[in-house]
Amino acid sequence: MNKSFYVTTPIYYVNGLPHIGHAYTTIAADCLARHKRQRGFDVYFLTGTDEHGQKILKAAEEKGLTPLAFVDQIIPRFKEAWKKLEISYDDFIRTTEPRHIQAVQYFLQKLLDQGDLYLGQYKGLYCVPCEVFWTEKQAVGGLCPDCHRSVEVIKESNYFFQLSKYQDWLLKYIEEHPDFIAPESRRNEVLSFLKENKLEDLCISRPQARMSWGIPLPFSPDHVTYVWFDALINYLSALGFPKDEEKLNKFWPSVVHLMAKDILRQHTVFWPIMLKAVGLNPPNKIFAHGWWQVGEEKMSKSRGNVVNPLDLIDEFGIDVCRYFLLREVPFGLDGVFSKDALIKRFNGDLANDLGNLVYRTLTMDEKYFDSKIPLLHEESLDAFARQELLPKIKNIPCKIDEALERLDFITALESIWGLIGAANKYIEVTKPWNLKKENKIKELENFIAILIEVLRVIARELLPFMPQTASKITAQIGSEHVKKGDPLFPRIVEEKK
Ligand code: MSP
Repeated sequence: MNKSFYVTTPIYYVNGLPHIGHAYTTIAADCLARHKRQRGFDVYFLTGTDEHGQKILKAAEEKGLTPLAFVDQIIPRFKEAWKKLEISYDDFIRTTEPRHIQAVQYFLQKLLDQGDLYLGQYKGLYCVPCEVFWTEKQAVGGLCPDCHRSVEVIKESNYFFQLSKYQDWLLKYIEEHPDFIAPESRRNEVLSFLKENKLEDLCISRPQARMSWGIPLPFSPDHVTYVWFDALINYLSALGFPKDEEKLNKFWPSVVHLMAKDILRQHTVFWPIMLKAVGLNPPNKIFAHGWWQVGEEKMSKSRGNVVNPLDLIDEFGIDVCRYFLLREVPFGLDGVFSKDALIKRFNGDLANDLGNLVYRTLTMDEKYFDSKIPLLHEESLDAFARQELLPKIKNIPCKIDEALERLDFITALESIWGLIGAANKYIEVTKPWNLKKENKIKELENFIAILIEVLRVIARELLPFMPQTASKITAQIGSEHVKKGDPLFPRIVEEKK
């Protein structure tokens, strides 16, 4: 039986269009999904949209639309962006779908029935015009930090989930499972939070009269579900929870949840406790990567500094964007987005290293062997090929497996570029034109054959990262003959500033 692998992105809010930040998480998930498929796993790759709550309701009102009509307009824009980026998701979940609503209501009813929910008083500082609750710390001087008008103390009756009951269990679980939360710095952050604070019970409802856009509580139609409680359950509803036991057993809990650090706490505190309460195991891994920034600031819709991935694709191509995002910044750290940095990677790693290797190899094969691919005789390879190329060819799959297990995209890519570098060096030290002059045809055949083998390995291993480039290379060397096309990455001449 195949091993299974489940990977998720956050479900994105649809109050705006997807930007590079959203694309980043989604590309990373896509890369893992493609890699695991290639290694024979049964993969389920889930993405989707988070469609309830105050933010969406407000955005819809601003456009004069009902919330559902509003989200229905935005969803195709997300799907279009993912299609353009060649995102190979298996499922796209929307929290307004019946399968999700049913799962959330089942979840809530089960918690109520087993005594994990209770009705209580919610007290908070509320800004009526902004329709947002603030903590005392945030509402300095009793003023809304956004619009600077006075906040009101509001009391409403709501349902609460007893998180505190599970705090000791969660702390112990995290301590005993060092790979559960990654990277390490995030794990430590969650551990100290749990050690230093007593968890407050989570208010999981909103009165329908104040905020109507949500999933009604099955036992109290006057309340709708708090949007985070609703949203997290998407990871289960996509697996057919609670009915589809087969799918659930297959993919839960062998899941990696990807996200940025902004939503770490919801995923590492609320979510495992919610799962524990319904009798399910925590997810295998939660990985929180860093933020793409523009200058000093996080890229975000509210700051108005977003880069649209579709514009970037139009300018540089899909694979260049994918490569840049995964190669430039260690997964887990913040990074500053800049086109200059992207052009530098393009001209260096892609045009000079990879593009040149492919083009030179195909050109030589065309010139020396009329595009026919010579046979490889491993036993008579020269010392450089035996010592520098063969071991790399053999080790790369294992190195990539290991690196991607840790979500270390850079190390995985570096192992491919190690082979590219060695092959380029091989061309320089071998000087094939001399072999030709000296009529050393056997050597020349082997030289070209091993280079084409290198390209084959590169195309295979690059596929999860750069699917288009990988298939182009495969098509160029697919049959008995090579088909030299245009250079893959013609250098970009930088504009003078
Ligand atoms: N709807 C919630 C998630 C619910 S998951 C059960 C949400 N949505 S969001 O639209 O705000 O998306 C946040 C996620 O988008 C981040 O966790 C990250 O995956 C991605 N990013 C958004 N901006 C980003 C950057 N500037 N940089 C990196 N990732 C970014 O939160």
